[in-house]
Amino acid sequence: MIPNQRDRFSLPADVAYLNCAYTAPLMKSAEAAGRRALAQKAAPWQLTADHFFETIHENRRLFARIIESPAEHVALIPSVSYGVALAARNIPVAAGQKIVVLQDQFPSNVYTWRRRALDTGAALATVAQPPDGDWTSALLDVIDRDTAIAALPHCHWTDGTLIDLVAVGARCREVGAALVVDGTQSLGAMPFTVADIQPDFLITTAHKWLLGPYSFGFCYIAPRWQEGTPLEENWLNREGSEDFARLVDYRDTYQPGAQRFDCGEASNFILAPVAAEALRQLLAWEIPAIAATLQTKTDAIAEMASEMGIGTAPPPFRAPHLIGLRLAEAPPKDLPSRLAEEGVYVSVRGSAIRVAPHVYNTAADSDRLFRALRRLLS
Ligand SMILES: Cc1ncc(COP(=O)(O)O)c(C=O)c1O
Repeated sequence: MIPNQRDRFSLPADVAYLNCAYTAPLMKSAEAAGRRALAQKAAPWQLTADHFFETIHENRRLFARIIESPAEHVALIPSVSYGVALAARNIPVAAGQKIVVLQDQFPSNVYTWRRRALDTGAALATVAQPPDGDWTSALLDVIDRDTAIAALPHCHWTDGTLIDLVAVGARCREVGAALVVDGTQSLGAMPFTVADIQPDFLITTAHKWLLGPYSFGFCYIAPRWQEGTPLEENWLNREGSEDFARLVDYRDTYQPGAQRFDCGEASNFILAPVAAEALRQLLAWEIPAIAATLQTKTDAIAEMASEMGIGTAPPPFRAPHLIGLRLAEAPPKDLPSRLAEEGVYVSVRGSAIRVAPHVYNTAADSDRLFRALRRLLS
């Protein structure tokens, strides 16, 4: 279990920030890395060609350790929608096939598939949340030989309902479907092992559970897709680009592995050091320990919710770090702002209040939330 880490963050004592699923607070060390990076940009004569590659590769190596993958299978991307576009560009889909998504899935992992279905004559198969909470079984019933792609999260972004991606990955391989995972609401807070799940594409932004900056993200690409087509033909991704003097000796060959898929200006000198600093700390804490620590927090939150007669997803189907408090009806629109007036920060998604604690949260934060809820919902 990780002892409380609030000291590493700049959270005021009277702020109960239970909203990491919205966006994470930066650690002081990551903020300091960002300040150093800004200062360096003010002195560009110190920037060498090596910096361009070191910045990218350091992040590639660190993120690869989070998902237990070789570093060369990781590309740097600016957003989840970019990673989903990469997957859509490379995975074939034929008329009559299915692209499987979850009901109320995050739009960045839906809109591209809706367009792809429209363009190809495929169908989008949306799997509804079953009343018993076992979304995995419902998915396994739908993923069949007509499935081209299952585009899924590890847990639902609104209430943390878990998907068993090991079982789903096995089914996808059995029927010849590709598995595209949006890990934004799980990577960093739940263990993910590439060898066990075998995703084709695994996509995430850095600014939530990876505790990193906005507009910075990662995409694991399975070796079988690494000869594919990037979204942009950018100069850094071509073989030999380390030699800045010979960039106009144009080449048809790419840098090895997933590097051909890096977005333009992936060596973001301001954001990359911030992301790397956060990844280093996550790795030092260790992801299973983070998950176990956050599980104790969400278990306590579930108990307090149940004392108020508020339901949550049943434990075997609930993620360790993110919990939806299911109200009988949609809460008043101004609930988040009224909670904020009391220093409590959560999100409302549909009729669920999404509570997303991290290692900086204390029991006092949860008490503060429920004291406020008792008052505002009565
Ligand atoms: C599940 C999930 N995926 C993706 C995103 C972000 O998508 P994008 O990077 O395309 O803005 C979010 C939240 O912002 C999210 O909750």
